[in-house]
Amino acid sequence: MAMTKSISISFKEFENFEEIHDNDRELILAARNSAEKAYAPYSKFRVGAAIRLESGRIVKGANVENAAFPSGICAERSALANSVSNYSEDKPVAIAIASMTSEGITENIPSPCGNCRQVIAEEESRIGDKIRIILSGKNKTVIIDSISDLLPLQFNKEILKAILP
Ligand code: THU
Repeated sequence: MAMTKSISISFKEFENFEEIHDNDRELILAARNSAEKAYAPYSKFRVGAAIRLESGRIVKGANVENAAFPSGICAERSALANSVSNYSEDKPVAIAIASMTSEGITENIPSPCGNCRQVIAEEESRIGDKIRIILSGKNKTVIIDSISDLLPLQFNKEILKAILP
């Protein structure tokens, strides 16, 4: 007999920037600052990501596009490549994402693409801990506890165990 199962997620939504914790506000501002530095001549959609490490350090990344479109990289993976390759022992605790167009910070909150979700999931698995995800639009911010909420039933190393020694 088939069973119907359901997955639900809960997250915090802020409409008042001042209500967000100081550390997270600082991280959002770093993500916005990083978005300004994006190289996005093709889409003109600039994305910035800022990762807070356990030590308090902030590591940033932005989307870097390419004339060969698939060779471009998203802000989240750009920031993670930076933190893992430079500070692998210092665990990420949160990642803030912001996006902007020629009009400034987008009204809509950004959200990591499928590729980036998979890469953030791998990082949670690598560090053995959750990473808070902060999605920040112009007047709205959403805070999610873990990438598992955005990528349920994810493919991960547990599944690969079937082929690992
Ligand atoms: N982009 C990101 O940087 N992060 C995402 O999670 C979604 C999309 C970038 C890729 C591309 O340079 C531009 O936004 C438009 O898709």
